[in-house]
Amino acid sequence: MASLTVRQLDDALKQQLRLRAARNGRSVEDEVRTILRDAAGDIDMAAEAAAVTAEAKGPATDGRRVLLIIGGGIAAYKSLDLIRRLKERGLSVRCILTKAACEFITPLAAGAIAGEKAFTDLFDPQHEFDVGHIRLAREADLIVVAPATADLMAKMANGLANDLATAVLLATTAKILLAPAMNPRMWSNKATQRNLATLLADGVTLVGPNAGEMAESSERGLGRMAEPLEIAAAALNQFGAKAAQPLLGTKLLITAGPTHEPIDPVRYIANRSSGKQGYAIAIAAAAAGADVTLISGPVNLPKPAGINLVTVETARDMLKAVEAALPADVAIFAAAVADWRVANAGEQKIKKKAGQATPKLALTENPDILATVAHRTTLRPKLVIGFAAETEDLSANAQAKLARKGCDWILANDVSPSTGIMGGDNNTIQLVTPGGIEPWPPQSKDGVAAMLIARIATALTEPTS
Ligand SMILES: Cc1cc2nc3c(=O)[nH]c(=O)nc-3n(C[C@H](O)[C@H](O)[C@H](O)COP(=O)(O)O)c2cc1C
Repeated sequence: MASLTVRQLDDALKQQLRLRAARNGRSVEDEVRTILRDAAGDIDMAAEAAAVTAEAKGPATDGRRVLLIIGGGIAAYKSLDLIRRLKERGLSVRCILTKAACEFITPLAAGAIAGEKAFTDLFDPQHEFDVGHIRLAREADLIVVAPATADLMAKMANGLANDLATAVLLATTAKILLAPAMNPRMWSNKATQRNLATLLADGVTLVGPNAGEMAESSERGLGRMAEPLEIAAAALNQFGAKAAQPLLGTKLLITAGPTHEPIDPVRYIANRSSGKQGYAIAIAAAAAGADVTLISGPVNLPKPAGINLVTVETARDMLKAVEAALPADVAIFAAAVADWRVANAGEQKIKKKAGQATPKLALTENPDILATVAHRTTLRPKLVIGFAAETEDLSANAQAKLARKGCDWILANDVSPSTGIMGGDNNTIQLVTPGGIEPWPPQSKDGVAAMLIARIATALTEPTS
């Protein structure tokens, strides 16, 4: 193959290249690479490679191109995570931001995560010359609209094309996946529902919206955008269910949240567990095709879609629910189960009486759910995974716990208040297995869930890992 360096080009061409590279925020070398890649667009190397892979391995995602259209809703910030999720799954991602979306996130952030300039303007002469809205429409294997605003849905349903996003949506022949996100009243409005019916009849696919807390003014209802992992799974489904659902046919049992141990009918002992990590794992497992039973202590989280949710209060109830949910292929114990309960919980409210001694609470040990399931001789899941919430000697305590409890893996995390992990959205995990300790990078609880589910999928196909 011929080799060419920028230095060999004439000065006028070099100057033109420099200007173009500066305008696109790329190095001159990257600009040349982009031009050459675009020139080879007709050969469509990525599609060729994807086709070869597809023939060899069945449905594949490598090199498939997703055009992500980000609408102007509060959920736009989640689309930045969605870009990462799609890329993690072998998809290449290009972004278009509507004018309103740029009020919530920047094209710079979207472009930096996608690894390619994000597009915003239908009438940008340079963009129209370089790529153009018709090429953006043609070069997508799938268009994902997330968040799909009420406005975008209305424009799509009526064939409007007065900005880059809607012009591309009208010009494409690719499949379209919508992740609506809006206020519950906007969602249930007859106009939105009429537009939705039109779009579904036109062959558009939907992911979400979910029910739950809205970002604004503590409102609840249907209209929350599906989580990035759900959208990524739905996108993969468009390319073939097998690649998207490595846990299809697998039964997972997951516990989450705290337990409440009664002192009397109105008081209880609890802990600060939010349930977020367990719920994130349940959502990721369901998105990977697993049949999921989530046994949850009292939490303030919406019920995830497509999951069998069993709610319990005490450790003893949780154990009963876990045993009733067996058999399962994998059991993940993310709940922060109280070690002790009050030995003689009062049947009536304990009264404060003048002159009487302060009541003393005698505690008794709760059943150890993780150890009970891990040591079962019948119906023991193939993979029993526990969490170790520690505030000191994390690795040593987690290794000791792995041996003591008889489980296969421990996900150890430091829950000292300074880490913000308990109740927060992020987590830093060390995966402890009989083979050693593997530190995972600090990341969101969704990220931990995705990594764990990927590891489980690998472990189930390669039982020795
Ligand atoms: C703070 C704020 C939040 C908004 N959130 C949403 C939303 O979640 N969903 C929605 O459909 N519209 C939402 N809107 C209204 C849209 O931004 C507005 O309809 C806009 O024209 C949508 O443009 P687009 O569809 O081109 O992105 C919001 C507006 C504001 C000011």
